[in-house]
Amino acid sequence: MYNLLVLPGDGIGPEVVGQTLRVIEWFGRKRGVAFNVTEGLVGGCSYDAHGTPLTDETMERAMAADAVLLGAVGGPRWDSLPFEKKPERGLLRLRKDMDLFANLRPAMVFDALADASTLKTELVKGLDIMIVRELTGGVYFGEPRGIETLPNGTRRGVNTQVYTTPEIERVARVAFELALVRGRRVCSVEKANVMESGLLWREEVTRLHAAEYRDMGIELSHMYADNCAMQLVRAPKQFDVILTDNLFGDLLSDCAAMLTGSLGMLPSASLGAADANGRRRALYEPVHGSAPDIAGRDIANPLATVLSFSMALRYSFHLPTEADLVEEAVRRALSGGLRTADIMQPKMAKVSTSVMGDVILRELDKLIG
Ligand code: IPM
Ligand code: MG
Repeated sequence: MYNLLVLPGDGIGPEVVGQTLRVIEWFGRKRGVAFNVTEGLVGGCSYDAHGTPLTDETMERAMAADAVLLGAVGGPRWDSLPFEKKPERGLLRLRKDMDLFANLRPAMVFDALADASTLKTELVKGLDIMIVRELTGGVYFGEPRGIETLPNGTRRGVNTQVYTTPEIERVARVAFELALVRGRRVCSVEKANVMESGLLWREEVTRLHAAEYRDMGIELSHMYADNCAMQLVRAPKQFDVILTDNLFGDLLSDCAAMLTGSLGMLPSASLGAADANGRRRALYEPVHGSAPDIAGRDIANPLATVLSFSMALRYSFHLPTEADLVEEAVRRALSGGLRTADIMQPKMAKVSTSVMGDVILRELDKLIG
């Protein structure tokens, strides 16, 4: 029995997680893959209940769980809170304290959605990119940081972009290992032309590649982050695995998400180091945010969260067949013409969050006959 901690969070989080819980329950009922699901609070809802975006108790439960599934955090109601109380701090603490240094963000275009992208169909059809984003270092956590008032009364805001060899090496290794079972190409992205941390990044990735992965047939290229943003919208299919730091990965993954038609389609897995038994801490969440403007209206797209659970099946529970089932159910729901509002196209049927959930369960049923 796997222990799964579910943190629905704020905004549309509870709705998209709600549909995913039905899928999780389906696996227990129909496939004998039982999960011990417990729920907790993170983000603004935790602040409202406990005065903090993440309690120590929830943090401890996350550390002990086999995997965490998170919806989304944040919303205008909490925007004016002091920095340390903001909903996002809860998510960032989870990532940091669980040491989830490798964030996998696969941007895959389902055939049925190739026309839904704002880019020309032929540019995105068949697209399958894996962005590997470093998640526990860089400017997100670097010290010194803060806002200070200068003697002349003006203020100064500081953040620090910093990376060390081990931090670069461990995430680069994840990218190379993924490339081995994909298209065998890694593009490492930084700003080595401007930043020393980027130069170190490039040197360490190059060294690791030469020492361990070149002879395994992995091709390594380097790209500046600004160019990468441009290439992602110019010719995205040139990429297989993109390896990049925390901040550039944040930006580039939103960009890549739109290639797939909607931010509402992109799942993610955040992984820690594997122990001797191959177990690793892990958190799964959709890349999209809490979308407060559409929260509570049953119109959000639950597929990014459903697909995040499929990543949990693959990376935490080592059940690739079950993961494939989820992906195939999503593929069939889309090719059957069903669309939530964010991916709506002419002649398709617009459905609610919960009807999309119904359809995924129906397709799962059909798939197992
Ligand atoms: C993401 C989000 C987060 C980030 C926010 C919510 C803190 O944008 O996961 O991409 O910046 O990492
Ligand atoms: Mg982001």
